[in-house]
Amino acid sequence: MKNEIYSHVPTDVTALEKIRSSIPSYISGKRLCHTYSVEKEALRLAELLFPTLGVDKKYFSDISAAALLHDLTKYLSYEEQISLCKKYAIPFGENDGSDTAVLHSRTAAYVAKEDFCINDTVFGAIYCHTTGKEDMNIFEKIIFIADYIEETRTHESCIKAREYFYSNAELGADLLKTLDMTIIMSLDSTLSYLESEKKPIDSQTIRARNFLLAEYALQRSVQE
Ligand SMILES: [Fe+2]
Ligand SMILES: [Fe+2]
Repeated sequence: MKNEIYSHVPTDVTALEKIRSSIPSYISGKRLCHTYSVEKEALRLAELLFPTLGVDKKYFSDISAAALLHDLTKYLSYEEQISLCKKYAIPFGENDGSDTAVLHSRTAAYVAKEDFCINDTVFGAIYCHTTGKEDMNIFEKIIFIADYIEETRTHESCIKAREYFYSNAELGADLLKTLDMTIIMSLDSTLSYLESEKKPIDSQTIRARNFLLAEYALQRSVQE
């Protein structure tokens, strides 16, 4: 298992408290419950995964910050999302999903940066939390999958992914591989959904899946 080395300054206590106390003025109702549940799930995942990857506990604050801020702009309309894309020069167009479901992750990252001065690690985890991307770091993977498997998610595919991860973790399986396989499960089900609904598929979703599949195919060929 490769170690991930981080040397950036983590989100400090004061900044995290400001984020925590401000969130209810951006998000309410079910989405607020989901937000808190993503933080709880992401911290649970970080507690399992950080030690195995050699990531310092001081970075738990980045996990909390990214989880609390990840859906900051989800309440905005499509027109408002596009207006923020133009403001922050966020690419949108033919090669990606470009609907609110995808764009909110990108606009949330920029609004969080402007309103809360988040660091690049938190920014990156928020930016790709809906689509994933190639070669995600552990912060990006944790926020991506916590958003999918947190306890208030009741869709069958979310429950299946949650059970898959924790049952394998309990059995002592390779945690990073289990996380990656859970991410592939979630990407597969997202792709099936988008296909069945005739909705556009963001190119990053395909890239994220292809990258993980290639990584594990390579490992298998080295072992054989
Ligand atoms: Fe989201
Ligand atoms: Fe979310």
